[in-house]
Amino acid sequence: MGEYHGYQKMTESTINPETVDPKVIVALDFPSADAALHLAQALDPVQCRVKVGKELFTRAGPALVEQLQQFGFDVFLDLKYHDIPNTTAQACRAAAELGVWMVNVHALGGRRMMETAREAVDKTTQRPLLIAVTILTSLDANELHEVGLPGSPEANVLRLACLAESAGLDGVVCSPWEVSVLRETITEGFRLVTPGVRPTGVEVGDQKRIATPEDAIRLGSDYLVVGRPITQAENPPAVLAGINASIHAGVAPR
Ligand code: C5P
Repeated sequence: MGEYHGYQKMTESTINPETVDPKVIVALDFPSADAALHLAQALDPVQCRVKVGKELFTRAGPALVEQLQQFGFDVFLDLKYHDIPNTTAQACRAAAELGVWMVNVHALGGRRMMETAREAVDKTTQRPLLIAVTILTSLDANELHEVGLPGSPEANVLRLACLAESAGLDGVVCSPWEVSVLRETITEGFRLVTPGVRPTGVEVGDQKRIATPEDAIRLGSDYLVVGRPITQAENPPAVLAGINASIHAGVAPR
């Protein structure tokens, strides 16, 4: 557990007021709690939030989420619930009671599922942000047609984002390339959460529709989900600090 020793966390004196609402959500895509906590200990909750997805949650469960919260991190529980309205709503309620900052459902579960989930979190004392996944970015037009969704992926994303908004959800996950058109269509305050973010010069990996952090924010993203550029870096806190610096430099002129 020692390889990040020597990396300094930000101290009170280095806190930038701009980062009190951290824009970067680090995807903790690790197979064990130990690995996730090892990285989390090197990061600063003032500089980022963290995302716990299906693999890590299935292995490490609510206990890990609680540990991350004890470290001071806001947790995005990325379990993409998709079930009948009652089951989805109860799962969202359980996530809210776990104290997570953000939780998500599949918009393809339909209006009633999303509305019921929203009503369930509305009744909780620590209401998380409830956002929707529209169309998985892994699906191309042919695959969408195969499951009975005609039209382009973009048209489906837009339609489902509007449905999520009208069901009272707080935002959607979308690729940086969809941010501009969504910003033109949906109301101010509807959160756009974008994976597919790659700092200049960093390996793209399997992501296709990518943007740099500063471009994604400039286009209108509220939060950036960044995994491997940080988790696989030799010095994760330094990469995170670089991303935050580029975001603030890029956004400052606005
Ligand atoms: O390592 P990388 O930065 O590509 O990780 C991106 C994260 O965002 C992963 O946890 C991935 O599952 C998630 N994600 C994505 N594309 C989507 C939805 C979620 O990459 N459309």
